[in-house]
Amino acid sequence: MSNNIARDSADSGRTASKRMITYDDVQKVYGTDPAEESVTALQDIDLNIEHGEFVSVVGPSGCGKSTLLHLAAGILEPTDGSIKINGTSVQSTQHQRKEVGLVFQHPVALEWRTVRKNIMLPVQILKENGAIDGDMDEYRERADELISLVGLKGFGDSYPNELSGGMQQRVTISQALIYNPSVLLMDEPFGSLDAMTKDELNLELLRIWRETEKTILFITHDLDEAVFLSDRVVVLSPRPGEVVDEIEIDLERPRNEETRATERFVELSTKLHQHFKSLK
Ligand SMILES: Nc1ncnc2c1ncn2[C@@H]1O[C@H](COP(=O)(O)OP(=O)(O)OP(=O)(O)O)[C@@H](O)[C@H]1O
Ligand SMILES: [Mg+2]
Repeated sequence: MSNNIARDSADSGRTASKRMITYDDVQKVYGTDPAEESVTALQDIDLNIEHGEFVSVVGPSGCGKSTLLHLAAGILEPTDGSIKINGTSVQSTQHQRKEVGLVFQHPVALEWRTVRKNIMLPVQILKENGAIDGDMDEYRERADELISLVGLKGFGDSYPNELSGGMQQRVTISQALIYNPSVLLMDEPFGSLDAMTKDELNLELLRIWRETEKTILFITHDLDEAVFLSDRVVVLSPRPGEVVDEIEIDLERPRNEETRATERFVELSTKLHQHFKSLK
């Protein structure tokens, strides 16, 4: 059913050669207990995301986008099929926690901790669980580097309530990057921000992605945001979510404010909007 359009890595300016996230014939059914009513959230998902690729997933509300992301994070188990990160099955390992960084829609900073201490929070939790040992100084240094990377220099000792929504979301992105994961999974991370802040953070995210060479799987309701950010946009059908299209975004990189005004951007965005309407 999926319509794979051949990739032209020269257009995106990045060479993507190694599979980083692989969904192999994945199905997810909620409520498999016979006493419950079952809901098939996803079915027949075959999807490959390559090393260093930026892929967005769009689809109608409730079609299984968050489920798709939670499966890759190992928070959920598939009912059928398998998911691999960097060649290793997500279900079989605990160490994936460090290989994958998760960002949700709402900032998760704790109000009584400073920005620096919030960024350190995932490390502290794993340390207290005995899942990491050794040098916290290394992570403290990394927290300081991240504060600069995400544009929060000078705010390390501030508290979340002293920051704007956009700045708080930068803290959340830093938290996800603290282990230097190779994969970032982002579930509508800018969905609650105003349009201007969202545009600004889109640019910042692309810069961070370029500088850190992460693989990003990004979920959004905003089709223009998907086109602006991505190498490829995956379209899911209404529930049960299936991949119905993959649209190659051959816009030049680096992208900037002018990108949205280009003919090609408008063309790709129109195509995606039309496709989306036809799903309903
Ligand atoms: N824990 C659960 N138990 C039962 N059904 C669930 C559970 N979590 C999600 N679902 C159902 O699975 C389907 C997919 O949910 P999911 O949250 O993945 O969709 P989504 O595409 O992220 O939605 P949205 O666009 O609103 O964020 C929905 O119909 C939802 O009601
Ligand atoms: Mg969701």
